[in-house]
Amino acid sequence: MEEQNIIFTVEPGGALRGELRVPGDKSISHRSIMLGSLAEGITEVKGFLEGEDALATLHAFRNMGVDIEGPDNGRVIIHGVGMRGLKTPAGPLNMGNSGTSMRLLCGLLSGQLFNTTLTGDNSLSGRPMRRVTEPLAEMGAVIGSTEAGTAPLNVCGDQPLRGLRFDMPVASAQVKSCLLLAGLYARGRTCITEPAPTRDHTERMLMGFGYPVERIGATACVEGGGKLIATSVEVPADISSAAFFMVGASISEGSDIVLQHVGVNPTRIGVINILHQMGADITLSNEREVGGEPVADIRVRSAQLKGITIPEDQVPLAIDEFPVLFVAAACAEGETVLTGAKELRVKESDRIQVMADGLHILGVDARPTEDGMVIQGGGAGYLMSSGRVESHDDHRIAMAFSMAALRANGPVVINNCANVNTSFPEFVTLARNAGLRIENTL
Ligand code: S3P
Repeated sequence: MEEQNIIFTVEPGGALRGELRVPGDKSISHRSIMLGSLAEGITEVKGFLEGEDALATLHAFRNMGVDIEGPDNGRVIIHGVGMRGLKTPAGPLNMGNSGTSMRLLCGLLSGQLFNTTLTGDNSLSGRPMRRVTEPLAEMGAVIGSTEAGTAPLNVCGDQPLRGLRFDMPVASAQVKSCLLLAGLYARGRTCITEPAPTRDHTERMLMGFGYPVERIGATACVEGGGKLIATSVEVPADISSAAFFMVGASISEGSDIVLQHVGVNPTRIGVINILHQMGADITLSNEREVGGEPVADIRVRSAQLKGITIPEDQVPLAIDEFPVLFVAAACAEGETVLTGAKELRVKESDRIQVMADGLHILGVDARPTEDGMVIQGGGAGYLMSSGRVESHDDHRIAMAFSMAALRANGPVVINNCANVNTSFPEFVTLARNAGLRIENTL
């Protein structure tokens, strides 16, 4: 998808103050469309993320004949077609930049009676897909890919699937979810074991739609051949979007911000755990459960952070938050060491290399390693340099460097920020209202 070059120019300094609600959770938004479409009855979704990634999923299901109203202010009405009600799409389904759409749909479509082709943008077309196509092939699926094991993926329909027992080599919620969704169409039982806990929105939402999921320790199992019953889904604010403000408020003196109605599922709160260990002043209040997902208001006040060795068990729980956590580390007192995070190299960009390159431009001592990063924090009063950095078409890189300007001695200019629309279309407006001196120019 060709997009205009949007440039963020962020003037230095400032503080973040006030109360704000960041948009809906991306992972939960994707899954609400998928399960709502396959359910019997009408599903109402509130708080849906109207970002390009979740919209790619929505359009895919519309292209497979599902009547979906909205989104209208985060409200989506899905007229579910039942497990066997999807129709052959007229052409390839374009997943844009969205790894979640491609990997989860690959599993779900393996169980259909018709053929489909899944395509994506340049970034998505370079991302590894064997991690899903190989275990799906063990289930009996037939999926064509490039020689490198990447998209476009040709998913052949009408292949009988059988249940699978699978020990995932990587801690990936996308792989787990893909296989559980294929498992709904398989004969027998599909059991997926993860090497470390990953986000469990698929399991929770399946149960919300009345589909039994058995969870025994690190293993989640489904029995094929069941059905989904329509329900209502309230999508909490995305902790991965809130994370930019958590770090921004922590590193800028005089900040005091409340992030409302944020999803705090235990499989997603690595960013809070890590920032707490670094000495951040983050408190949760009004903790409640909404539609099977824990939610809270999160207050963040500025604090002098200290460098830490990030526990490896927190890595999958904070996998999308490392770009901005690296910015936190640059402002902390002392060294921060991240290991066990090789996955960051195969996200929307190589987030280890791209963040190290940008941090170098801003004068930070950041040493990329094969599976992480070592950052020497500047400590109290430290200001990063002014500079122009590249987002490499990666939304989270663009937003992370925007927050760096709060602790820079001159403007931070970020190139190629159109991709922020994939997960957080209102970022510039919300950030500016909170006090970030950000302008977006073409
Ligand atoms: C996601 C899982 C994560 C995450 C991605 C969304 C999901 O990917 O990085 O942004 O919704 O399941 P992996 O499971 O591949 O780590």
